[in-house]
Amino acid sequence: MAREEPPNRPELTVVREGPGAEGQEKTERPQREGGTEELPERVVLLLSGPNLNLLGQRQPEIYGRDTLADHVQRAAMAAGQYGLALEHVQSDYEGALVEAVHGARGRAAAIVVNPGALGHYSWSLHDALAAFEGPIVELHLSNTGRREAWRKTSVVTPVATGVIAGFGGDGYRLAVEAVAAILRRR
Ligand code: DQA
Repeated sequence: MAREEPPNRPELTVVREGPGAEGQEKTERPQREGGTEELPERVVLLLSGPNLNLLGQRQPEIYGRDTLADHVQRAAMAAGQYGLALEHVQSDYEGALVEAVHGARGRAAAIVVNPGALGHYSWSLHDALAAFEGPIVELHLSNTGRREAWRKTSVVTPVATGVIAGFGGDGYRLAVEAVAAILRRR
């Protein structure tokens, strides 16, 4: 009997920008002949946590009117300018994000993560990120340090290379620029 797919599986979107890429968007990984994966050398994984799929509608006075797709597109454009390819995974499920981090090990060069509320309490996401060997940029649209007390704690910060928060949509470009600068030095 065919196994049922779990609900709301995270969507893997590979967005490539840059010379020759012509901004194409794929929902499947490119395949080499023979079926093995052919991924670009330097992939940046952008992770979006719970409720970020509602950006544009959700508390626009705090998070702005741009949608998550707008932010991903901006990040992909910035990545393309540095010869990096962006993969994006959004999920409302902690385990799906943990698995996305596992899948990035040994494959992606860096991770940019807006963990949403999971950033305030998800030790499993913390542990998964701790097992990732490359640079990690924690990203928040809002300045979590000047909001409610419970948002001031981040369990991602201790395993992040750095944090970008409070710059709204510009944060996505800034995060990719930070990653590119770190990777250039390596
Ligand atoms: C957020 C901040 C979090 O506190 C919140 O739970 C979010 C969005 C931000 O981008 O500002 O979902 O990560």
